[in-house]
Amino acid sequence: MGARRQSGQTDVVKQHVAAHWNRRAPSFDADLGHSIRTAAERAAWNRILDLVLPGRSPLDALDAGCGTGFLSFELASRGHRVTGVDFALAMIAEARRKAAERNAAIRFEEGDAEQLPFGAASFDLVISRHVLWTLPHPEAAIDEWMRVLRKGGRLVVVDGQFDATAPVTPAGGARGSAEYQAIGDQLPFMGGRSREEIEKLLSAHGLLRVASDPLHDLVAAQAQRMVDEGLERRTHRRYVVWGDVAR
Ligand SMILES: C[S@@+](CC[C@H](N)C(=O)[O-])C[C@H]1O[C@@H](n2cnc3c(N)ncnc32)[C@H](O)[C@@H]1O
Repeated sequence: MGARRQSGQTDVVKQHVAAHWNRRAPSFDADLGHSIRTAAERAAWNRILDLVLPGRSPLDALDAGCGTGFLSFELASRGHRVTGVDFALAMIAEARRKAAERNAAIRFEEGDAEQLPFGAASFDLVISRHVLWTLPHPEAAIDEWMRVLRKGGRLVVVDGQFDATAPVTPAGGARGSAEYQAIGDQLPFMGGRSREEIEKLLSAHGLLRVASDPLHDLVAAQAQRMVDEGLERRTHRRYVVWGDVAR
């Protein structure tokens, strides 16, 4: 789990987090928020990725906390050279299985997103979806993600903020699970942070030209899919925030 030593407490927190996602791995891609099934969802993701991916040339990209590889596959299909890293072995196994099935040349590696097994200045892009909220040291993770970025490289964070007063359903979701109930108080961003807070955070860590988007098209497309699939319609605030390392 990374080169640097961790405290026993941090190890226990991370063991709970990894156990949760290992358990969820077989059904992860079937969850509504994790897949693209409709034209509106496809259009939204195309817009989002066009918005945040700088330039036209292929990038060395890292998907931090890649899970089953949603963003990794989106980036690879656009011609980027992609590495995905995650510490939940069942999630990585599923990502590798899909890469083999699709003949996608993506490197999926086991590793801790807070202590990456990569040298400084290894990537042009670090991107992460729905990971910051589940880290015991989210601010240190931002520094670590910046460490592996080259000069002028870009950090992209896709995340959301739950309504703190909402029930912890849907059943089977992370927040209500036994694993997260046991360690939630050790996760400073549990429940999510607002778009504005993440923008301020990236600026405070030294990223330049920090900008964001509220993903209204994706939220609307997913809400419509909930209706179409007969699911209870529940939305929460989502966003993408990005910023660049100085040249
Ligand atoms: C909600 S899932 C998101 C997966 C993927 N990014 C996506 O958007 O589909 C969170 C993922 O972060 C991973 N994760 C959480 N903490 C991590 C850490 N410290 N190091 C590596 N992976 C981590 C989990 O194992 C899980 O696969």
